[in-house]
Amino acid sequence: MTMKPSVLVARAVFPEVLDKLAQHFEVTSNQTDVFWTQEVLIQQLQGHQGALTTGSVRIDAVVLAACPDLKICANMAVGYNNFDVDAMTQAGVLATNTPDVLTETTADFGFALLLATARRMAEAEHFLRSGRWDRWRYDMFAGCEVHGSTLGILGMGRIGQGIARRAAHGFGMKVIYHNRSRLDAATEAACGAVWVDQSELLRTCDHLMLVLPYSAATHHVIGANELAQMKPTATLINIARGGIVDEVALAAALRQGTIAAAGLDVFEGEPKVHPDLLALRNVVLTPHIASATIRTRLAMAHLAADNLIGYLVDGKPVTPINPQVLAT
Ligand code: DGY
Repeated sequence: MTMKPSVLVARAVFPEVLDKLAQHFEVTSNQTDVFWTQEVLIQQLQGHQGALTTGSVRIDAVVLAACPDLKICANMAVGYNNFDVDAMTQAGVLATNTPDVLTETTADFGFALLLATARRMAEAEHFLRSGRWDRWRYDMFAGCEVHGSTLGILGMGRIGQGIARRAAHGFGMKVIYHNRSRLDAATEAACGAVWVDQSELLRTCDHLMLVLPYSAATHHVIGANELAQMKPTATLINIARGGIVDEVALAAALRQGTIAAAGLDVFEGEPKVHPDLLALRNVVLTPHIASATIRTRLAMAHLAADNLIGYLVDGKPVTPINPQVLAT
């Protein structure tokens, strides 16, 4: 009888996905979802060929050197800044992620966060719940217009395009974007979006949406200089990764009225949130939930599992990030 390959599920996941994995693998899982240091992660990974990870599980050269049996890490996320992909490729370890299945759900949330931020929904709700509402007032929680305003999108991949479609076709917004590579004319037309340089994007948008991948090149791409170029009435929405924004500079800009408000679903030190942000009323804060609907999270978990099965059982992963590994 041939031995089943063995996989580690490094964070809690839907039980039905564990059942699916168990049909193909010896499965060890962290279903109690305890926090693992790098040392514990290395201990847990010993002898496993595959790992199902989430964005909080860092796979780097140290982990790879200590886990020579590892062949694949399947991230249950589209973003993969928790992977050192070069080190993985060098070690012959395949990396996979979960694109497409979360695009529309994440775009919905980006738009929800934009609306909540511009229309001051969190602040207004806290006010009501605190029992301070005693009358209607002409200027109570008056916010910024969304429909008909200009949305600037920084990073224009699948999720950025989904947000652009909602903005242009649903809310009659003018959509401008900046991306290293410009979309082709047909895709721009379908999104109702126009490419501009970064400085024009910052200067002219009423709402700035960050949807670019995080890497050393995009670390603190939005800092004091960039915020200073924005309109004082503008809002900033981040559903990408916290490290894209210099949070201290953002908190100062929100305090000083350099921009009007921010909506943040991601944080540089998450799950810790910078105390300067927690102290502000003009920021809507959510705990990294942009892709969080049951259907989408299930689809992400299944796709991660299918990548493990596809590679370790059939040699054909579904969504590889470093397909060079397949050729070796
Ligand atoms: C993603 O898919 O990258 C989300 O941020 C969840 O981690």
